[in-house]
Amino acid sequence: MELQEAIAQRRSIKIFKRDMNIDDNRLYEAIDNATDAPNHGLRQPWRIVHITKDRLGEMSKQLTKITFPDEPNKQKDHYDTVTNLGGMLALIVKEEPDVKDNLENHMAFGAFAQNLMLLLHEAGIGSCWKTPKYIFNNKDIGAIFNLAEDEKLVGFLYLTDLEVDMPHPKRKKQNFVQKF
Ligand SMILES: Cc1cc2nc3c(=O)[nH]c(=O)nc-3n(C[C@H](O)[C@H](O)[C@H](O)COP(=O)(O)O)c2cc1C
Repeated sequence: MELQEAIAQRRSIKIFKRDMNIDDNRLYEAIDNATDAPNHGLRQPWRIVHITKDRLGEMSKQLTKITFPDEPNKQKDHYDTVTNLGGMLALIVKEEPDVKDNLENHMAFGAFAQNLMLLLHEAGIGSCWKTPKYIFNNKDIGAIFNLAEDEKLVGFLYLTDLEVDMPHPKRKKQNFVQKF
C-alpha cells in the first residue's frame, strides 16, 4: 500500500456493534514494525499490554469495578462494547522527570502510535485510539496493567475488523502554513 494512500484511507473505527475478530500475528507484526518511529536517544518510551479477545470481558469487569462502581448500566455497556472487539491495546508511555525528556517521550509515542495505526490499517485491522477521562484521573486503574511509578496510561487502542463504512472527516487544508 502506498504511504499516501494509507494516510488518506485510515480512519478511526468507532462502530462496535458486531462481534469481531482480528489476526493476532498480523497485530504483533505491526507492533514490531511501528517501533521504527523516531524517538530521541532511542529510549523507545512505549509499552503495550495486549488484551486478547478471550480476556476482554475479564478486563472490562476489573476496569469498570473501579471506574463505574455504582453504575451497573455503564458496566454492562462497557462490557457489551469491548467484548465485541477483536482485542484491545493499553497504550503506556514511560515518563521522565525532566520536562524536555518527558515531552520528547510523549511526542515519540504519538509517532509510534501513528505508525501502528497505519500499519494496522494496511494489515486489515481497524483501530480507534480512546482516551476516556477516567484513565487520567483514576490512579487505581494502573494496577490492572501493572503500571510502574514512571509509566502513564495514555489510552486504549480498540482493535476491529474493517467491515464498516466509517466516514473520514475532511481536514481543513488552509491557513496553517505561513512563509517566514
Ligand atoms: C490522542 C487521541 C485520542 C483520541 N481519543 C478518542 C476518544 O477518546 N474517543 C473517540 O471516539 N475517538 C478518539 N480519538 C479518535 C479521533 O477522534 C479521530 O482521530 C478523529 O475523529 C478523526 O477521525 P479519523 O481518525 O477517522 O480521521 C482519538 C485520537 C487521538 C489521536
